[in-house]
Amino acid sequence: MAESGSEGEGGAEEVLRFEAVTRRFDGAVVVDAIELALRRGEILALLGPSGCGKTTTLRMAIGLERSSAGRIMHGGVAVDAPAERIFAPPERRNMGIVFQSYAVWPHLSVFENVAFPLRTRKVAEPEIEARVRASLARVGMQDFAERPGGKLSGGQQQRVAIARSLVYEPQVLLLDEPFSNLDAHLRHQVRRDLRQLQRELGLSILFVTHDQAEALAISDRVAIMRAGRIEQIGAPQDLYERPQTPFVRDFLGRWVKLAAAVDAVRGGETHVALADGATIVALQGGHAPGARVLVAVRPERIAFVADDGRAPRNAIAATIRALHFLGDQYEAELAFASGETAHVFLPAVGGWREGQTIRLELAPEAIHLWPAEEA
Ligand SMILES: Nc1ncnc2c1ncn2[C@@H]1O[C@H](COP(=O)(O)OP(=O)(O)O)[C@@H](O)[C@H]1O
Ligand SMILES: [Mg+2]
Repeated sequence: MAESGSEGEGGAEEVLRFEAVTRRFDGAVVVDAIELALRRGEILALLGPSGCGKTTTLRMAIGLERSSAGRIMHGGVAVDAPAERIFAPPERRNMGIVFQSYAVWPHLSVFENVAFPLRTRKVAEPEIEARVRASLARVGMQDFAERPGGKLSGGQQQRVAIARSLVYEPQVLLLDEPFSNLDAHLRHQVRRDLRQLQRELGLSILFVTHDQAEALAISDRVAIMRAGRIEQIGAPQDLYERPQTPFVRDFLGRWVKLAAAVDAVRGGETHVALADGATIVALQGGHAPGARVLVAVRPERIAFVADDGRAPRNAIAATIRALHFLGDQYEAELAFASGETAHVFLPAVGGWREGQTIRLELAPEAIHLWPAEEA
């Protein structure tokens, strides 16, 4: 395996690259001509709903699954290209993988679990000893070497699985929903640990999850996958603030969405009329007068205030239909005069009550306008 990778756009070295990679199972296209590159030293999340092809993509990366078409490059070398009859098995790819189930063998000791990839690579015994101890120390499991895998908690199994995936010092680490079996507290801890480990070792990580908060929190870039295709790829903030498709928009975070029609376009401002008659102003252009649009605003860009009879610019009235106290805030279901509804969080201080009329003040620059969607 060549040490150097290939240069991608912007000069970042790519350690793993999918070029129009497709995978079919019994004629059904599960991964559909995806283009995806993992840059050296980054954490790239592959985020999408269950069944969209994430695990299949990861399994093709490491060679547990063959592609049906396209080419997979690893460190500048083709490792899977059916048209060229190229296929390198996992032990010839410099990658580690942690499965969703962890796949820690219960009857083997922690030591032997971690030693396994070295034994398949025929590493000499004294070196195995040293490397396994070092790998266990890295994840804080050095005191558990003799314990059977079956006598570990979920968090400990996860650490052993990571130690095993790193023991032969792979260039690339692949993680398949690695935190989904951990409780919330441990999940946060392990995420931080992973980030630190990644920085210390300079690892490049391709990380699969269906959990949007997790993807946004730990990744340098996120690729949103839907039905076998990559829908959008970018930095977390970029995807959150500038979704390019309705699917990406609705997959990440919450919105208050209201149907509207464009009244007028003047000097970079779009004036839209909502279904209840109120007019609001957005800074975004691109929609002609008369066009039916969807107004979408992130709830955190909205000021919620008690109705005091004033009617400032860019304000909409709503009624609190249901209110749930969450401790640090309220969750509220709002109903607009048009009959449309929205779920939002309201600050804990504010004296909210069900049936109350409130006002939503929208920042013009935070208003997204989309072409109207059929209900
Ligand atoms: N070995 C297989 N044989 C047939 N279908 C498969 C196989 N592996 C996965 N699939 C199908 O491919 C689709 C994508 O699966 P998967 O990659 O596991 O999705 P995800 O990890 O995003 O949930 C699913 O519809 C799944 O049933
Ligand atoms: Mg999966």
